[in-house]
Amino acid sequence: MCAHLRLAGLALALSMGMTAAVAHQPAQRSAAELMDVLMWSRETIGGPFKLLDQHGKRRTEAAFRGKLMLVYFGFTSCSDVCPTDLLQMGQAVEQLGRLGDDVQPIFITLDPARDTAKRLAAYVTSFHPRLLGLGGSAAAVRQAASAYRVYYKQVGTGTDYTIDHSAFIYLMGSDGKYLGFFPPGTHAERMVEIIRPYLVSQ
Ligand code: NI
Repeated sequence: MCAHLRLAGLALALSMGMTAAVAHQPAQRSAAELMDVLMWSRETIGGPFKLLDQHGKRRTEAAFRGKLMLVYFGFTSCSDVCPTDLLQMGQAVEQLGRLGDDVQPIFITLDPARDTAKRLAAYVTSFHPRLLGLGGSAAAVRQAASAYRVYYKQVGTGTDYTIDHSAFIYLMGSDGKYLGFFPPGTHAERMVEIIRPYLVSQ
C-alpha cells in the first residue's frame, strides 16, 4: 500500500493557502511547500548526494556527469505508483535505443531501513537492466531527498508502515543541473519526446 500525493490534491492544498508561512527545516517542510518550490523552480533542485548502490558501492551524482539522469524517489514495498512510474521510466530509456545509453535511470529509496542492498538489487532489475538502486543511511537518504525537494513521511508504525511521498521523475542534464520533472503517470512515449532533443543536441 502506498499513499501517493497527487498533483491535484497538492494544487488544491496550495490554492487553499496551506503553504506554511512558518520557516521549517528542509526535512520538515510540508508537501504543499515542496510542490510550490518544484512547480516554479523557486530553489535549486538536485545537487550532490552520497549513497550506496545495490551492490554496496558508494555513488555520488558527480560520477554521472556527461549523462542525463532520470531520478525517482520511492520505496520497494510501494504497490501502486512507484512500480507504474518506474516501468514507464525503464521503457523510455529502452525506447531511446542507442541514445538511451547516455541516460542513467536512478531509483532512490525513501525506506532505507527496509530497502537493503539485496532488496534493491532484486527490485531494480524488474524495471530496467541499468536502473541503479540507491540507498544507505537514513541521514544520507534524507540529504538526497532534501536536495530534490522530495516530500516523504512514514505513516503507521511497526513493520506494516507505508510512506507517503511525492512521486516525480526528475530529469537532470549532463552538467548535473535540473531540467524539469515528469509528473506521476507520464507515459514512456511522452518522456522520450522530451528527452530525445537533449541527447541529439549533445
Ligand atoms: Ni510509491
